[in-house]
Amino acid sequence: MNTPIQRPTGSAKPAAGDRRWELLLLISSLTAALLFGAAAFRENNLAPWIAYQRAYRSALFARATDERTRRAAASFEIRYYQVYLPGLGRIDRCPTCHLGAEDPLMKDRPEPLRTHPGNILAHHPSDRFGCTICHGGRGRATEAREAHGAEPGRPAPMRRGDMLQAACAQCHSDAELPGMPVYNLARALFAKKACLGCHSLRGAGGAQGPDLTAAAGKHGVKWHVRHFMDPQKAVPGSKMPNPGLTEEEARALACLMMSFTGENLSRDYLPVPGARKAGGQVELAADRLGADVPPGAAPGYVGSETCLVCHSGLHPEAVESWRNSKMAHAFEAVRDAPDRERCLPCHATGYNPATNQFAEPNVTCEACHGPGKDFVPAALDGKVAEHRDRALANVRDRNPCVRCHQPHVPKEKHEEAVRRAAPKLGTATAAIESTSKN
Ligand code: HEC
Ligand code: HEC
Ligand code: HEC
Ligand code: HEC
Ligand code: HEC
Ligand code: HEC
Ligand code: HEC
Ligand code: HEC
Repeated sequence: MNTPIQRPTGSAKPAAGDRRWELLLLISSLTAALLFGAAAFRENNLAPWIAYQRAYRSALFARATDERTRRAAASFEIRYYQVYLPGLGRIDRCPTCHLGAEDPLMKDRPEPLRTHPGNILAHHPSDRFGCTICHGGRGRATEAREAHGAEPGRPAPMRRGDMLQAACAQCHSDAELPGMPVYNLARALFAKKACLGCHSLRGAGGAQGPDLTAAAGKHGVKWHVRHFMDPQKAVPGSKMPNPGLTEEEARALACLMMSFTGENLSRDYLPVPGARKAGGQVELAADRLGADVPPGAAPGYVGSETCLVCHSGLHPEAVESWRNSKMAHAFEAVRDAPDRERCLPCHATGYNPATNQFAEPNVTCEACHGPGKDFVPAALDGKVAEHRDRALANVRDRNPCVRCHQPHVPKEKHEEAVRRAAPKLGTATAAIESTSKN
């Protein structure tokens, strides 16, 4: 194992009178050897990890029932147990002490020999995932205080409580995870508030706010909570809109920020191909695209839920003012009308007279901004400028209001006017034109 130490074979020999140097060299080598020997003795006989490994071996013997299991116990070696994880950029020696983590028969033993709680290691076996990717701490250490990150002056804090759930978001972002309420809440908020509309994460997202890929290193949990509760108070003049969160929600998001460590994980560790766009909001919108719209509705409509995935966070005021307008509830006025199909071109969105189906009730985003198929795919592809220009053109280039509103039809006469219109309404335009003629 040991490579023999090569003596330097310099051609310049020391001068005959320079013995003092050789003596000094001898003394210092001896001291070093002694110190080294003492450390090795301590390591081999007194180090706590050895005591844990002996206890583990005793436990293996204690439960051995036949020759095979006894032989297995006898062949357990006292040595470092470590996993080398190039894809995660680390070496974890935690199993040197935590020997029973994946051994179901160790569940009644004290730490560090105890079986890992839950079944999480079944999905994340230690030879592939190690421990520190979730728990933090100092992977190379073989002394407990240092491994658990509590060595004074060299902190490497372990994640505990809620923070342990934040670890999941380093790799998971597309799916809910059972038993991880804080992670689930944070993930949903991150999508719903469209944080990636302004921020980028691992190369995807907007550019109005700072990149979040390494947000964990920039601020602590407390700062993030304060910032989420009131961005302008935490950062005077901040252009980040107040996301309007409860304290619990702000804490969950702060937790999520602590999972954005900027570490470059190998793709093999990301469970779903799309997970690199962590936050899942683009995927969420893509999933939503047209999902709520009946097939018989007018073509091209995708449904307002698709827009809201991104815009609830991007333009909270615009969305709120729409929500509070009567147009967001216009369907109620016609729900029970006997000849409802006459009313639907204006009281619903995406009405198709040929099938008598509509995209969704009420006057929603696409009633004014036009069918989303024309411009939402651009947003999903990250072509934000194209998306914006086309969504705005539909409300700027022609007046979207007159399609439904006729100022010269008094409100009181409105229903009657609609009913007097042509008995068979060909298209929405025909309905409007005939209404305004009356
Ligand atoms: C030298 C042995 C040793 C090493 C190495 C070690 N541990 Fe421990 N660990 C223990 C012991 C002993 C306990 C129980 C007593 C305690 O809590 O300190 C424990 C407890 C724990 C606990 C539960 C208690 C808590 O503080 O939350 C976790 C989690 C943990 N270790 C994780 C790790 C991780 C992760 C690593 C690797 C970075 C690691 N340990 C390395 C000995 C070790
Ligand atoms: C995929 C993430 C993940 C990995 C990998 C992982 N753990 Fe855990 N660990 C957790 C979670 C989550 C909990 C809390 C589970 C619970 O309480 O049900 C936990 C709990 C523990 C506990 C008990 C903590 C306590 O407070 O009692 C110990 C000890 C522990 N882990 C050690 C390890 C060791 C050692 C490894 C490596 C062999 C490891 N873990 C790998 C996620 C992980
Ligand atoms: C280093 C990346 C990584 C981290 C961190 C991580 N996971 Fe996973 N997880 C994976 C991968 C990859 C899989 C798929 C396993 C496979 O390849 O079969 C997975 C699978 C799972 C599964 C099985 C169901 C499924 O979707 O396949 C659950 C449940 C799960 N993880 C929960 C968690 C929880 C809870 C945490 C946080 C405590 C966590 N994971 C942390 C990478 C990770
Ligand atoms: C309209 C654009 C916009 C939206 C939406 C937005 N932010 Fe921000 N965010 C900013 C701007 C601008 C800053 C820089 C000023 C500041 O720190 O407040 C910022 C700062 C931050 C910071 C501090 C980053 C650093 O490096 O200091 C974090 C973390 C953050 N935002 C997270 C979020 C999260 C999470 C969401 C979703 C709930 C979100 N942001 C939504 C614009 C936005
Ligand atoms: C994947 C996310 C996403 C989806 C889905 C989405 N948008 Fe957008 N939208 C954006 C982003 C990002 C911007 C640019 C915001 C900015 O520059 O402030 C934008 C801009 C806009 C603008 C221009 C706003 C301005 O700055 O003046 C309008 C109008 C708009 N979208 C309407 C819609 C409508 C209607 C839908 C649904 C049919 C929709 N969007 C769906 C992300 C999205
Ligand atoms: C050409 C478009 C159009 C058609 C078709 C249409 N409406 Fe309306 N409706 C409107 C507009 C625009 C308003 C709002 C008028 C205003 O507030 O000035 C309105 C308002 C109403 C109101 C008043 C709601 C309130 O809260 O005050 C009722 C009731 C109503 N419509 C019923 C109907 C019924 C029933 C039909 C079908 C028989 C119908 N509308 C067809 C455009 C239309
Ligand atoms: C009744 C018609 C109508 C409806 C319904 C409507 N919008 Fe708009 N929207 C407009 C008009 C008009 C403008 C102003 C365009 C301009 O700046 O010239 C606008 C502006 C916007 C802007 C830019 C706001 C800003 O602050 O810069 C966004 C974003 C937007 N709409 C998104 C939506 C979304 C998302 C929905 C559905 C939740 C929606 N709109 C529903 C007509 C509508
Ligand atoms: C798809 C048809 C449609 C379009 C397009 C439309 N509206 Fe409306 N609007 C309605 C209907 C229907 C109502 C009545 C809702 C109710 O009272 O139940 C209404 C009601 C209103 C009201 C009164 C309700 C309130 O909240 O006080 C205002 C103001 C209004 N619309 C403004 C506009 C403007 C401005 C535009 C263009 C940017 C527009 N509408 C485009 C159908 C439409």
